[in-house]
Order: sequence, then C-alpha cells, then structure tokens
Amino acid sequence: STPEFIKIVEVGPRDGLQNEKQLVPAATKIALIEKLAACGLPVVEATSFVSPKWVPQMADAGEVLAGLQRRPGLSYPVLVPNLQGLERALAAGVQEIALFTAASEAFNRKNINAGIDESLARLAPVAEQALAQGLKVRAYVSTVLGCPYQGEVAVSEVVRVAKAVAAMGCYEVSLGDTIGVGTPKKAVAMLKAVAAEVPMPRLAVHFHDTRGTALANVYACLEAGVRVVDASVGGLGGCPYAKGATGNVATEDLVYLLHGLGYTTGVDLEALCEVARWISAELGRPPASRLARITAN
Ligand code: HMG
Ligand code: MG
Repeated sequence: STPEFIKIVEVGPRDGLQNEKQLVPAATKIALIEKLAACGLPVVEATSFVSPKWVPQMADAGEVLAGLQRRPGLSYPVLVPNLQGLERALAAGVQEIALFTAASEAFNRKNINAGIDESLARLAPVAEQALAQGLKVRAYVSTVLGCPYQGEVAVSEVVRVAKAVAAMGCYEVSLGDTIGVGTPKKAVAMLKAVAAEVPMPRLAVHFHDTRGTALANVYACLEAGVRVVDASVGGLGGCPYAKGATGNVATEDLVYLLHGLGYTTGVDLEALCEVARWISAELGRPPASRLARITAN
C-alpha cells in the first residue's frame, strides 16, 4: 500500500520565536521561514498579528511578510487574535490565518485578556470576515491537557471549545498541550473525545516538550488516527504567557520518527537538521532536538 502522508505544520518562526528575549531581526525570521519552506514542509506558520505590547517579538509581523518570497502551493498562516489583527494580516496579503483560544478560563485571561466565552464571541466575527475575504482559517485550542494557572482542564471543556471554533468554519483545529504536561493515554482520551464531535481529519495535535513526553504523545495520537502534527524546528519556543513552557516537539525528531514508522512527510531531513543548527547558532544556543545534535559531530 502507498505510504500515508502526515502533514507537519511547522510553527518555529511563530511559536518558536515569540518567546525569545532578544529581538530577532526580521531578516533572520524571513531567512528561517524560507529555509523551512525549502525543506519541503507544506505549512510554515510565519508570525502573529497580536498586540506588540503583549508580544514584542512579533511586532515586525508586517515586515516579515513583506520580505518573504512565498512559494506557490505552500501555506504561511499567521496568528490573529481579533479584528484589528485580521486587518493587519489582510494588509500584509496573507491567505491563511489561525485563531486561538483555550479550554482554560484562567489561561485565556492571562494570554488574551478574555474568558472562554468572551474569546469565542470575539473570534466569531474574525472567522466570518476572514472566510468572506477568501482566507483559510485554522484554530488552536490551548491548555487541552492542563493549565499553568488552574491545573486540571476538563475534557468536556476542550470538546466544547473545539466544537465552537470548528463551527465558525475553521478547517482544522489544533489541540495544544501548551505547557507539556500530557502523557499518551490522557492525550489519546482527550483526542478521541474531541474526534467524536469534530472529525479526526480536521484535528491536529500540538505538543510542547516541557517534560519530554511530546514524541510519545504524538505516537499515541497517530495510532489513534490523527494525521496532522505541529512541530518547531530545533524544538524552539514556548508561550510567553505560560511560565516555564518550553518548545514544541522538534520537527526533525518528529520527521525521523514518522519516516521510521513508514509515513511520508515530504521533508528533507538532512536539510531540516541544517536549518535547526543554523537557527540555534543565530540564537546562540545548541538545538533542543536530539537529531540536530547527533549529526552536528
Ligand atoms: P487587550 O489589551 O485586551 O486589547 O489585549 P484591546 O483590544 O483592549 O487593545 C489594547 C491596545 O492593544 C490598543 O492600543 C489596541 O490598538 C492594541 P492602544 O489604544 O492602547 O494604543 N491592539 C493591537 N495592536 C496590534 N495588533 C493587534 C491588536 N489588538 C489590540 N491585533 C489581545 C487583547 C488579544 C490583543 C492581547 O491579549 C494579545 O495580543 N494577546 C496575544 C498573546 C499571544 O500572542 N500569546 C501567544 C500565542 S498563543 C500560543 O502560543 C499557544 C499556541 O501555540 C497553542 C498552544 O501551545 O497551546 C497557539
Ligand atoms: Mg504552542
């Protein structure tokens, strides 16, 4: 049988860089996105049009998009928190946006200054106007396996929020373990509960590797049927409003696992490791991934 394709959504330029203390020059961000696209990744999340007061590192979103050579056929989604963000994204000529909210009331208040229901009410017109403008709209639900402020998050809340964003017309809903507290059985139980309401082909998983369980969680969720996985080159990243949160599962470690399991990804693994080493050197630290460190010698 033909090998099955797993779509990797590369989030390094956004999730990876948003938490960097030192301002990364726009030129470096542009180079990173273009290098990632050259590796064969089908989706490279480019930046976010959030408030520059809340996330200063993403203040140059317009500049990054303006400088980018976009390849036809590839997708470069950007995070948008509200109508003001949508206006900025449209002015930059984006074709895809990603909305975001969380299954935790407490996290949402810290991250977007709104509770769950308020955030859904805020996002509905953003989705509506974006769709009317012909954009593709993705969505994130954060804190699906735990919250840094309230601890436990009910699976029923994850399901409710995922259903709500799917009903807005988001073609894909990415389930985020924002602080990397998940373990495989819990992750699968959560995924299956959501998939009962939002079909599995519309779901993605987004694991941060704070406690070293991200790849195990991905494997369990693949076995449960998910076919879209978010990852960050070099394992860069973390959410600025989730203290101690480290980066996503590293894209190169994920690709190694997927190819070993017989899946295809379209990604050139050697080239990707080069990018991981390059961006890590730019940021002045070794790559967080296993693979980029091995091949470095
Ligand atoms: P707010 O302060 O309540 O917003 O923030 P406001 O509407 O009251 O506006 C206040 C000021 O912000 C105004 O300016 C607005 O113009 C400005 P002033 O009049 O004071 O000069 N403003 C904006 N400026 C530029 N672009 C905008 C924008 N919106 C307002 N879009 C808001 C509410 C949602 C805007 C803010 O809380 C925010 O930007 N939060 C984003 C935080 C963030 O980016 N977090 C990281 C991304 S989420 C994540 O990483 C998780 C994920 O990876 C999945 C996972 O791991 O779980 C996706
Ligand atoms: Mg994230």
